[in-house]
Amino acid sequence: MTHMDAASRADIRAAELIPFSPPKVQSDVYTPEQVEALFTAVHRGPANGLLVKQLFGSAEEIVAATSGKMPEGLTLDHFLAPMFHGYLAKNSAVLDPVVASAFYNPKLMDWARDYFNAGIVMPRQLHFNYGPPQPSADPGHFDATSYRGMDSTNTPIWLLSVMTNSRLFREYKIQLAAVVTWFWRASDRGGFTYWPDGGHNPPKRIPAPFWNIAVVAENENMYHRGETSGTPDQWGKVKGLTFDSVIEGTPGDLGQWQVRNGDTVIARLATEEIRWLFHWTAECYADYDAFRIRADHLDDLSVDRVMDIFASDLAKRDIAFTMPADPLNDAAFKALLMAEYAIGSPREYPAEAPVAGRMAA
Ligand SMILES: [Fe+2]
Repeated sequence: MTHMDAASRADIRAAELIPFSPPKVQSDVYTPEQVEALFTAVHRGPANGLLVKQLFGSAEEIVAATSGKMPEGLTLDHFLAPMFHGYLAKNSAVLDPVVASAFYNPKLMDWARDYFNAGIVMPRQLHFNYGPPQPSADPGHFDATSYRGMDSTNTPIWLLSVMTNSRLFREYKIQLAAVVTWFWRASDRGGFTYWPDGGHNPPKRIPAPFWNIAVVAENENMYHRGETSGTPDQWGKVKGLTFDSVIEGTPGDLGQWQVRNGDTVIARLATEEIRWLFHWTAECYADYDAFRIRADHLDDLSVDRVMDIFASDLAKRDIAFTMPADPLNDAAFKALLMAEYAIGSPREYPAEAPVAGRMAA
């Protein structure tokens, strides 16, 4: 063979994908006033839909991602977990002024500055994921990378993943420091696992219960996952979930939440019955020159540039291919890239927190 087999390359990539600096665990992340502001803003904010909607635009796309038909014995319900997703700040703007102190936060900005040894730090986003006890089938994932000119707002997630896995685009990556803060004290099941030394090496974890504790890291280059939360007798609290179910604060009751299908409330949950994560990110730049390249779009990626870089890498490795006219929508080329730059899952999991067999559950 003229080149290494795909499995070996995937193993090497899995070992090489490690975060910029060692992650740091921080306690008492937000002040009591900031914590109250976060929950207040979520409660009075808009109803939020399922996290799975971030990954798939429609139920049809889930079906398409499973080779066009559901595997034997499965229905769409198997892909629906009661994990919800919303925003408190986006594009550096807070969506509710009450969270300004939590978001434009000198303490978190200092952590970000230290993490990347950065001169300039720009808070970028604050989103949150929340849901009642449930099994987690997540074997560990990377967050979608943002590149100058290409991110999840204009580029399919599969292409961003392939770009990250290939490690060919690191010089275009926007350095994002993530402070992911957890609130979950109803159970000792439902911690956070992360692999700071790559997928080849043992993970670390923060065990539940926890409240207002965070890991500061570069999540696009570090496997991580929320663990199964609660015990099986606590699962299934939300019955009748659909792709379009939403959760919202119960009007007039700050400690209560309701899940709705249309006008029908299908579940009621107390704040403490929900595991919360608040995910703050900041863009980090070494200095003003580095910041200007991003701010003034002096060196943005485009689909054409990306495909040129892939083409020369594939050619270097003697992979036969023909560049399609529309590479973003060519199933065969997408399959080639995904296979060539595939990356495996982590090798080890904490004994206390195996991956749930959600499909079999
Ligand atoms: Fe993540």
